[in-house]
Formats: sequence, structure tokens, C-alpha cells
Amino acid sequence: MKTYKLYIDGKYISSSTKETFVSVNPANPKDILAKFHKANASDVEKAVRSAEKAFVKWSVIPAPKRGEILLRAAELLRKEKKKLGKLVTREMGKQILEGLADVQEAIDVAEYMAAEGRRMFGYTTPSELRDKFCMTIRRPLGVVGLITPWNFPIAIPAWKLMPALICGNACIIKPSSDSPVCVYELVRILEQAGLPKGVINIITGSGEVAGKALVEHPRVHGISFTGSKDVGEFVTQHAGLKKVGLELGGKNAIIIMDDADLKLAAEGVVWGAFGTTGQRCTASSRVIVHKKLQNQFEKLLLKEVSKLKVGDGMNCDVGPLVNKNGLNKTAKYVEIGKKEGAKMLCGGKTINNNGGYFYSPTVFTNVKSGMKIAQEEIFGPVLSIISFNRIEEAFAIANNIEYGLSSAIYTNNIRNAFLAIDVLETGITYINSSTIGAEVHLPFGGVKATGNGTREAGIEGIHEFSEVKTVYIDYSGKLQKAQIDEFVEK
Ligand code: UN1
Repeated sequence: MKTYKLYIDGKYISSSTKETFVSVNPANPKDILAKFHKANASDVEKAVRSAEKAFVKWSVIPAPKRGEILLRAAELLRKEKKKLGKLVTREMGKQILEGLADVQEAIDVAEYMAAEGRRMFGYTTPSELRDKFCMTIRRPLGVVGLITPWNFPIAIPAWKLMPALICGNACIIKPSSDSPVCVYELVRILEQAGLPKGVINIITGSGEVAGKALVEHPRVHGISFTGSKDVGEFVTQHAGLKKVGLELGGKNAIIIMDDADLKLAAEGVVWGAFGTTGQRCTASSRVIVHKKLQNQFEKLLLKEVSKLKVGDGMNCDVGPLVNKNGLNKTAKYVEIGKKEGAKMLCGGKTINNNGGYFYSPTVFTNVKSGMKIAQEEIFGPVLSIISFNRIEEAFAIANNIEYGLSSAIYTNNIRNAFLAIDVLETGITYINSSTIGAEVHLPFGGVKATGNGTREAGIEGIHEFSEVKTVYIDYSGKLQKAQIDEFVEK
């Protein structure tokens, strides 16, 4: 079996703990991908030293030149897309078309950020004084720590690495222990594209030890984390004064108005709820449907769901949960839903196939907004249907949640659509489209407990990984004092 040691300063080094873990295929846990080392605080210290050294050289390379490397990485990713897509499916289970899309998202963000190297705009503005020039420029943060999840094992690391790199930062990335091979591959490609060694360092191991050491390290100047709300809170509490970007949970709702195209809505719901086996923070886990259409919608939905084939993502529509915990959590919430009095329309079964972590797509109806299954993030293939009579009620239900990532409304009434855009408390709102499928050139992130107000991707990615510096250039050749008037006594 292949062993990946920690990757520091362009060298594979053993961790100080001598402890290891493995990454397995969740569709068939006997299929082990590789073994990894568990890092601790002293390993993180080594990674920080390597990154600091690399930063000195990397940050002085002109951003357009850094962009050329990113662009070459995009080309290499495109060349290896099929192989990497299959790796995504093997390592974390998602359906193969989604595995390929994961790689595509990395290509997209690499291209976008490569071009950002020729923009990275600051601005100029007049000074209040003569012969003085004012402008802003963007500077890198320095060494940044990236803590990434398994559900987009190439795309999300790329969302963070590409903007961090184009801004001139040196990176330490700690991938999820469920999908580290994908990150090693992404970094390999970046180095093949010309990225100097040491600019990215990979630390593997637990969040409690390796992740914590990274978050707490005094010479790491930025942390970008995607994961659960609880860990997000931990990061905020331990990061001190670092710049922190957080992408946390979601409990995203789709509203279906009585004027909606019902077939389109049902398709959107199935894709949003059961795509990636419900394991997206943007997943649609609540449907808020107009009472008039409820029966008709449920029939259509069940017909669509019954077509889904559960199994290995290489040849099925719905892959496994990522691991045993994910499976247990899903099963636990289904039991809770039943106890809470929701009516299960389909699913509710663990499927034993090769020991893989499969669960059948599950739909509950007659769900009340306050029930646990309608409040907590399940991160599995479980959908709750809640009905309403008036649009205000639908909005209130949609907003009655601690999270605020994504939302959607299906309607053919323009007023309903614009009201939803104004009223729904989420960072992203879709009209006549599901809650998933954000594009990399637009800001991504949420309000309320989904984050801390930061956004990633698009231009926001540049803001996340850079600081603004304000520059004053006085070419008057004399001492000029801002804000100081001449004093004239009347
Ligand atoms: C996530 O689930 O953490 O919008 C990210 C989407 C994807 C990204 C999801 N492009 O569904």
C-alpha cells in the first residue's frame, strides 16, 4: 500500500507521532487508497518554517507570472480530468459525473484566479493636499492555513489554494482525513505546473491535533476553513487575531409556489437533495411547498426518487455516505424524524452492498418547521417537506433556521421571485433552480451561523487572501500636514 508522508518543503517527511491512518473507498471499505501520517504541533512548526522561507521568494514574483503557473495547472488538470474524477469518486464516493465536475470546478477557479493576477485592482483617489498621490494596493497575508473538507475534495482545496497563491501567500493545507489523496494530487499538479517547492505544504492528521496547531500557530496569518459549525466556532475561538474565513453548515430550503412549473421543481429538488448523496453544505434539505400543490408534488417527487439507483458512484446515481459516521448520523436522523411524527414517504433503509456506506434516499412529509429533522444539518440523503398557504408563511419557515447559506424559489411570478431575493436570509438565492451548483466567479458563502461574513471564490477570494495597503506619496518636497488648517484669529 502506498504511504504518503507529510509534504514539507518539497520533501516527504515522517510525522513526529509515528501514528498513521488510511483513506478508504466508502463504496467498498476494503478498497484502501493509501496510508497517511498523523501530524502534531511540532510537524506544523516545520511546515510553518518551510512556508515562511518559500514566502520570501514567492511573494516577490509578479502576480501575472504567478498566474501563468495557475493557468498551466488548469491545463494539466484538464488533461488529467478523467483520472482525477475517478479518484474523487473512489476516495469519497460521489457519482462519477460529479467527480468529474469536482475537477472542473478546480479548473474553473484556477483559470479565474490566473487572470486575477493581471487585475488585483487597488484604487486611486485625490488627496486633500496638493502634490500628493493616494492609492491602495493588495498585499498577501503571509503564511496561510487551509483546512478543507472531503465533500469537494479537489474543488474546495482549489477554491482556497488558487486565490491564496495568486495573492502571493505560502500555504499549509490540512485536508480532511477522508480525502487526502485528492489534495496530494492537486499539489502535485501545481508543482508540475511550476509552483516552487515549499509554497504549499501538506499536513495530514486529526483536526484536534494538526488542525488545532495550525489554527493556533502565531506565525500563521490567515485561516480558511470549510466544515461544520462546531469546528468553525472552535476555529474562531483559537485563531486569535488571524484573518479567518469560514464556510460552515446549511439547511437550505426550496420554496415551491402555486404558480411554479412543478416538474421542473421536482427535478430541482431531487438534484439538490440527493445529488452528492445530500452531502453538500448547499444541499436542499427542506422543501416548502404550497398546500394546493402538495399532493401532486409528492407524487411527482416519489416518481423521480424511485428512479435513483443507489450504489458505487462509478455506475449509480446516488453514491455512499463518506464513512460509517455519516451513515450512522443519517440513520439516526431518520429515526428522530419518525419519532417526531413526520411521515416517511420513501427510503429509510441502510443498504448493505460490499460493506459500503449506502442509504436509500429518504423523504419525509408533514414535517413541522421546528422539528429536529427540519432544523439540524443531516449531511445525508434525507429531505423534509413542509407545507404553507401564504408566501409570508413560506418565507418565515425558510428563515426559521440558524443557518443561511443557500435558498431557492420556484415561481413564474416575478413579484414572488423578487420578494424572495429580498427576504430570504441566505448568502445565495436561486430562482427556478436548485440550491446547489454555485459558479466559481461569484462569491460563495452565507449569513447567520453559516459563517463569519466572509465569502470565497470570485473577487471575494482575492479579498479573503490579501490585505489592503494604503499608500500616500507626497511629491511636494515640503512638509504638508493633513487635517491642519491655518489658524486665523478674527
Ligand atoms: C459545499 O457543499 O461545501 O454550490 C460546496 C455547490 C458547489 C459547492 C458546494 N459548487 O453546490
